[in-house]
Amino acid sequence: MTENSTKPLLEVLGGKRREIPPIWMMRQAGRYLPEYRETRAKAGGFLDLCFNPELAAEVTLQPIRRFGFDAAIIFSDILVIPYALGREVRFEVGEGPRLDPLDTPEKIAGLARHADFRRLSPVYEALRRVRGELANDVALIGFCGAPWTVATYMVAGQGTPDQAPARLLAYREPEAFSKIIDVLVENSIEYLLGQLKAGADCVQIFDTWAGVLPPREFLRWSIAPTARIVEGVHAKKPDAKIIGFPRGAGALLPAYVGATKVNAVSIDWAAEPALIRERVQSRVAVQGNLDPLALIAGGGALDRAVDDVLANYAQGRFIFNLGHGITPETPIAHVEQMVRRVREWQG
Ligand code: CP3
Repeated sequence: MTENSTKPLLEVLGGKRREIPPIWMMRQAGRYLPEYRETRAKAGGFLDLCFNPELAAEVTLQPIRRFGFDAAIIFSDILVIPYALGREVRFEVGEGPRLDPLDTPEKIAGLARHADFRRLSPVYEALRRVRGELANDVALIGFCGAPWTVATYMVAGQGTPDQAPARLLAYREPEAFSKIIDVLVENSIEYLLGQLKAGADCVQIFDTWAGVLPPREFLRWSIAPTARIVEGVHAKKPDAKIIGFPRGAGALLPAYVGATKVNAVSIDWAAEPALIRERVQSRVAVQGNLDPLALIAGGGALDRAVDDVLANYAQGRFIFNLGHGITPETPIAHVEQMVRRVREWQG
């Protein structure tokens, strides 16, 4: 028996169905937890927390202690890669990330090709610390942003309702935009391999903004760069398990799975169950997809929503999760209710 066989999440990523699906939540370390808010206040800024190995490890472990999840995801952010590329990255309280906009071919020509990975060594150190403290049956997940999603923030300098600045630049200046994507592909491969080496059992690629792209653009800016990352990681580490999260990909999910060769996909709450079962779960493990608003609502609505997710997907290889991140206003009791309901499920 390998060490991995004791971790339910890795079993599912390896292609097996677990009777009770493993469970974790995107953004499980965060402001809905009082212990997170306390540690965050101690750290100072958000990036100070990301780059403090002791405190980053602490907040990574908080949701595991409280809820007994089957996986911990290392506490960090997708924007640490632009930071390591020498871009200015700040997090304004209540406003989200702010970067120096990279929005002309001239500025893009000056973008560094190689990240300074010494700046990311605290993330690796945090992974090693968490690895040392986790029980044997709990998986540790590393992550990065997909090039498209990271580029949307680099170009606009912030989040926008539909990431129009990056979409426009990709239409107007595809060659310059390609350079940003290429730089992100190469550095993301190295970053994911570094996380796996530091103790991550598997990794997830967050493409939060995949769904704003029309099919042709989706193929070029979401699928193709993600496929290069998966290929690059698997070239060095053939057995590495990679979860893709192309949020909003909808009917393009089967194409995403076929072309990227990810080992699992995380699906959002709008996914169509029959399409997912027949054309996605038949090929790879599926993770998702409770509506985070049902988790805020609680009560009977939450029970029904949890049951629907289980009825839709738990007959196959499945990891229970949300369709996107948990939000700060979510009551802790509702998370407990969800975990109980999943673990008591009798499919
Ligand atoms: O899942 C986890 O618990 C691990 C930690 C994690 C964070 N960000 C911590 C965080 C992960 C996996 C991310 C990924 C991330 N970051 C994504 C992709 C996934 C997604 O949720 O869409 C994106 C787009 C970002 C960029 C980012 N970071 C934004 C847009 C924001 C502001 C939004 C907000 O919730 O405030 C952040 C900040 C951020 N990243 C917070 C956390 C816990 C909140 C900051 C705080 O504590 O003040």
